[in-house]
Amino acid sequence: MTVKDKNITEVIKLATPTREEIKQVLNQFVDEMLTQDEQLKAAPVRKPADASIRQKIAAKPIPREGRPLTTAVSEMLTDIYAYGDNMRHPRHFGFVPGPSSLVSWLGDVLSSAYNVHAAEWTVSPTAVEIEQKLVRWFCDKVGYGPKASGVFVSGGSMATLTALVAARHKILTPENQHLGTAYISNQTHSSVIKDLHVIGLSDRQIRKIPVDADFRLDVNALKKTIMQDKANGAIPFLVIATAGTTNTGSIDPLKDITAICRNFNMWLHVDGAFGASILLSQRYRHVLDGIAAADSVSWDGHKWLFQTYSSSMVLVKDKADLLNSYYAHPEYLKDLESKHAHFNPADMSIELTRPARALKLWLTLQVLGSDKIGATIDHGVEMTQYAEKVLRNVPQVEITSPAQLAMITFRYAPQNLSEAQQDELNQQISQKMLATGFAGVYTTELNGHKVLRLCIINPNTAETDIKATIQKLTQICQNLVQQHRIAVGQN
Ligand SMILES: Cc1ncc(COP(=O)(O)O)c(C=O)c1O
Repeated sequence: MTVKDKNITEVIKLATPTREEIKQVLNQFVDEMLTQDEQLKAAPVRKPADASIRQKIAAKPIPREGRPLTTAVSEMLTDIYAYGDNMRHPRHFGFVPGPSSLVSWLGDVLSSAYNVHAAEWTVSPTAVEIEQKLVRWFCDKVGYGPKASGVFVSGGSMATLTALVAARHKILTPENQHLGTAYISNQTHSSVIKDLHVIGLSDRQIRKIPVDADFRLDVNALKKTIMQDKANGAIPFLVIATAGTTNTGSIDPLKDITAICRNFNMWLHVDGAFGASILLSQRYRHVLDGIAAADSVSWDGHKWLFQTYSSSMVLVKDKADLLNSYYAHPEYLKDLESKHAHFNPADMSIELTRPARALKLWLTLQVLGSDKIGATIDHGVEMTQYAEKVLRNVPQVEITSPAQLAMITFRYAPQNLSEAQQDELNQQISQKMLATGFAGVYTTELNGHKVLRLCIINPNTAETDIKATIQKLTQICQNLVQQHRIAVGQN
């Protein structure tokens, strides 16, 4: 070894934390994390980043000389991770919360520690085999036959995008792509419109179909619009139905939509990012009867399968549809081509280098078992039904959509306030509740009105949490009404 080589080795070694430092950091943070977890219910659902912490972050330099690992990590714990919404909190009912299991977290830690390169079977055969096994298991839950397959991706947006590329590839040609039209409802998640733009559709090629009184895509309107478009020379090629809309948890009429797609030779994608998990519930899986007819399904692990973020699947009825769109082995990956029909995630999706996202879900299923996960999903459905029961007994509350899957929406509607005042009232109720830190209750809009929305999927949410949240919301409502000297009836 030359003197120069020796220096280089020393410099690299100096920059690497010692074994002891790494163990110390891990012990300390695991301890803190578990303590926090045990005390979650007593903690606020969110810690807003005030001006002082924002200034502190703005003033943080990126140092030219490294600092001790322990110092840098403790600063991250206090200045970064401590802020924002705690999506694992049992009273966080906003968006679709992320009540990730500690087992998923551990699986995530393991997978990133080993930095598994899960693009190709040849490089990571065991991790890729596990992914294939899980994908098959979830395809069975959908009701797909032997030709089905899929891959893990980062989230619902990417899962749908992965499927839509396949749909476009199968049905349209580069020459007629400008005529292709896709159909969604006005309750479809915004990510789907982004995905449609990414595959090259302009707004003029996207039809937003109205919904019925239950927020389900109106099939008559769908059929009529498709026929009109065909008559005008367009090529209807894709319907995106939702199994569990973000606003209300509604499920589009899958069987009727399938019949339309078959009739017009169109691809049916089901966005099950949130709702597909109901397929693991013995008690409620029937609500998705008909889903097996879809050409593709997106299904998030990081929503109702209790995974840490970056966990989603795209499943297709026919593996060939993904391969036809994504198989592209260049000269520098020829060594990885297998003579056997191995499952290569990179041949079926957008990403090449990718983490082994399936392993944390694998670990979760191994440790908790699928029955427990199914029962936990049932718990969410039943807690939401309970919330509806409690809300129905609050005089000024109007249920704007009943408990569906794990979502319910409602609004405080004192009769002597105008609709605009009621909108303002509900917006303020949400803001005041968030400011207390007691519960994460956000708003959405339905039929042009501001409503409050609860998504209840956390296994640790109990009836007492729901009751206390509704009591506090009602109290906030009364205070607001009184402050504004607006007389309302007894609550
Ligand atoms: C129905 C539905 N589809 C798609 C998405 C987007 O998923 P992701 O945020 O994982 O990309 C969401 C997110 O909440 C959703 O609720």
